[in-house]
Amino acid sequence: MQDFLRNLPKVELHLHIEGSLEPELMFALAQRNGIELPYATVQEAKDAYHFNDLQGFLNLYFQGMNVLRREEDFYDLAMDYFKRAREEGVVHIDMHFDPQAHLQRGVPLETVMSGLLKAKQEAEATLDLSIGMIMAFLRDRPADEALHVLEQAAPYWKMLDAIGLDSAEQNNPPVKFVEVFKRAKQLGLVCVAHAGEEGPAEYIKEALDELGVQRIDHGVRCIESDEVVERLRSEQIVLTVCPLSNVSLKVVEDLRDHPLPQLLREGLKVTISSDDPAYFGGGMLANHTACAEAFSWDESVFRQLTKNAIDEAFTTPERREELLARLVSL
Ligand code: ADE
Ligand code: ZN
Repeated sequence: MQDFLRNLPKVELHLHIEGSLEPELMFALAQRNGIELPYATVQEAKDAYHFNDLQGFLNLYFQGMNVLRREEDFYDLAMDYFKRAREEGVVHIDMHFDPQAHLQRGVPLETVMSGLLKAKQEAEATLDLSIGMIMAFLRDRPADEALHVLEQAAPYWKMLDAIGLDSAEQNNPPVKFVEVFKRAKQLGLVCVAHAGEEGPAEYIKEALDELGVQRIDHGVRCIESDEVVERLRSEQIVLTVCPLSNVSLKVVEDLRDHPLPQLLREGLKVTISSDDPAYFGGGMLANHTACAEAFSWDESVFRQLTKNAIDEAFTTPERREELLARLVSL
């Protein structure tokens, strides 16, 4: 099974590139930029990665990315993850990034974009990896600020595949961002949003109805509403489920209690991603292996999950065909 899971041409639809910052690279970038870290050693940083909830994680996530200052830092961040993911058999990544988290610290948008785009270009040319770009907005910040950043990103609109919505979900309902998503639609951008991670099933419905999203990130709390499950099934909306993330952030107690098997039985279009692999105990391979053990899934389940992700990936028709062919010939 381990060999099969490594060789599976895995497609990751939900990855925050800032959440792929391993403590080793954090220390190297801190030294390069003359920044003092709140940890004495790499091990001390790793030991701090125990969370009670999403906010507890977000505090360390925003603190960690403080070492990202220059274009080459963003390039190194992304290349470091792309190489690691490729070694685990990942062939496509739709990458979220959080411009507001960098603008707030005085890091210009061009610095973020040029570093990430350079890494994307190099990965696509040399690593047999395709990359989608999702510019995400922080839902605990004002909607006006998000709208301003979207306008500021005009030079990059054509390089974006979608906009997303992330950060603290509770009390920050999708409807707060109606204007931002309306504008993104006008620009021809696809829309996705985190919903039903810590927030209620109602937020999933709201993200579909009010924001017109094509994909729901997480969405596991749909299980609390028969109506929402039925909606997701009938429209075959893709859910980007992140099993180890849900365990780390205590969305579920234990992976064996995770609703994933039930979501599949309900006929939902489920996929598996790592979310923030540096913080939640591993990347795509670790997430797949953990599911194989917790749910005793056979190869056919993983083939279906991978097929779902290939169908939905932000890539060209040619690349999608190629990835499907690889899956079928495995
Ligand atoms: N930003 C990074 N990871 C996130 C998550 N799991 N939920 C919401 N916002 C995030
Ligand atoms: Zn996420």
